Amino acid sequence: MSEQRAVEPFDVVDLIGRKRFAEELGDAEIAWLVDAFTRGVVAPEQMSALLMAIVIQGMSRAEIRAMTAAMIASGETMDFTGLGRPAIDKHSTGGVGDKTTLPLVPLLASLGVAVPQLSGRGLGHTGGTLDKLESIPGWRAELTNAEMTRMLTEIGGVICAAGSGLAPADKKLYALRDVTGTVAAVPLIASSIMSKKIAEGAGGLVLDVKFGSGAFLPGLEDARELGETMVRLGTDSGLRTVALLTDMDAPLGRAVGNANEVRESVEVLAGGGPADLVELTLALAREMLALAGMPDVDPAPALADGRAMDSWRRMILAQGGDPDAALPVARETEIVRADRAGEIARVDARAVGVAAWRLGAGRARPGDPVDHAAGVEVLVRPGDTVTAGQPLFEVACDSPGRLARGLESLAGAVEWGSAPERPLVAGRIA
Ligand code: URA
Repeated sequence: MSEQRAVEPFDVVDLIGRKRFAEELGDAEIAWLVDAFTRGVVAPEQMSALLMAIVIQGMSRAEIRAMTAAMIASGETMDFTGLGRPAIDKHSTGGVGDKTTLPLVPLLASLGVAVPQLSGRGLGHTGGTLDKLESIPGWRAELTNAEMTRMLTEIGGVICAAGSGLAPADKKLYALRDVTGTVAAVPLIASSIMSKKIAEGAGGLVLDVKFGSGAFLPGLEDARELGETMVRLGTDSGLRTVALLTDMDAPLGRAVGNANEVRESVEVLAGGGPADLVELTLALAREMLALAGMPDVDPAPALADGRAMDSWRRMILAQGGDPDAALPVARETEIVRADRAGEIARVDARAVGVAAWRLGAGRARPGDPVDHAAGVEVLVRPGDTVTAGQPLFEVACDSPGRLARGLESLAGAVEWGSAPERPLVAGRIA
């Protein structure tokens, strides 16, 4: 009997050529592309060419919708309707010092909302929530679906690794985009994020869309387009979605790294912490409460009176962590001081993120280990007036070689002059 090869309905070279000339691809063509790439029929070099054509030519609304649907269809979907509490999700497009998930999830859990937070690891200059939490001795990121559901029912919040069954096409595509310079494009970012969020099956979603030097898309107008695209994708598929456009030009809070970001999050849960981090945590919490049908609940008291901290401790314990254990501390530290007196106009989030990454807090390739104690403490903010010799940054890591590379990255991180007014929350899309 002769072996029969399946006949593929489309020719990928033809689709690449059409996208190159900005032609719109049809739903069936996009569904086939994503599926054929996941099956290995479309080769990575072919998909790379198509992705670059998309980066240059863009995608129509219909194409973005088809791309998102195809990635959802590549894997399983989850359902959190039986928890007895509204399930509301949150996603940040990624930034420097952005640890809001850590105080936000237990805060919402303490107020009766279920927050299933499937998180990732950091790559490049932006940090990853799981890397931060793994600096807590004993804490484990991998949970079964049954463990997740138990935590959501009993505590209300869970932060864990996304299983491999959720939008596997996106995982494969994202790994390719990462090494082919095709991450920063609205259609690709929007379909990547929203395929996972829609497949997760929460009842509502709050997006924190970053702009500024530390964001994937630094321009405010690009961030707005990304936010609008994602809100439309969510709403069209029945997921109530709201986006805040938030400033990521300066690092959020003081701590950039892993263990130091956990310490700072615990400060917020104890009713303290840096003002910008508290402001963003509360702004996101209010949006999540509104989606959960509790628009009149003020989240601030739960930070001040210990309710959010109780939920945090229960969440950490449930995943094998010790909330009272000492967090890793670096062997080498150094202070960077101001070489002049004056007002600080900018603290460049990207430069600080790159410094923390080079110090060892981040990874260059998936699977690399991270140094949990490495990072940067940002001791000044735009608008501060400093004297010559005043500390600007404290850098920490375990290896002198890395220390030098981290310090190099911070060389141009501070710009001098009068600081422009920049509201932390610059817009809202609903
Ligand atoms: N985060 C994602 O999950 N996907 C992207 O494309 C960018 C950020």
